[in-house]
Amino acid sequence: MITGVDHIGIAVTDLDEALRIYQKTLGLKLEKITIIEDQKTKIAQLFAGETKIELLEPTDEESPVARFLKKRGEGFHHIALKVTNINAALHEMKEKGITLVDETPRIGADGFPIAFLHPKSTKNVLVELCEP
Ligand code: CO
Repeated sequence: MITGVDHIGIAVTDLDEALRIYQKTLGLKLEKITIIEDQKTKIAQLFAGETKIELLEPTDEESPVARFLKKRGEGFHHIALKVTNINAALHEMKEKGITLVDETPRIGADGFPIAFLHPKSTKNVLVELCEP
């Protein structure tokens, strides 16, 4: 069951520059910066009130975020939906014909399981499921 939006992901080419805008100019609160080695991505998590925003910078040209930036440029990257049971949710969505990027969950920036659904199944929007 989906219980809410956990965060919104934004792809950027230069995290320091993006932080100058989102943290300094817009005034969002920087929570932490994490490097996800297996995704070759550096993630800054900020809060707009209770809403979390992730700025994603590739650390390598092989990063999925680097490929995204090459194809679509900077901007909206993904929306993360909270689920109560990620394994059950993935199973259910696969049964309903959704294409999965991750067949099994992996560990995200917050240390809990996440998995991506393929944007071709969700109107060109990359959807992340997470189980906080
Ligand atoms: Co995310």
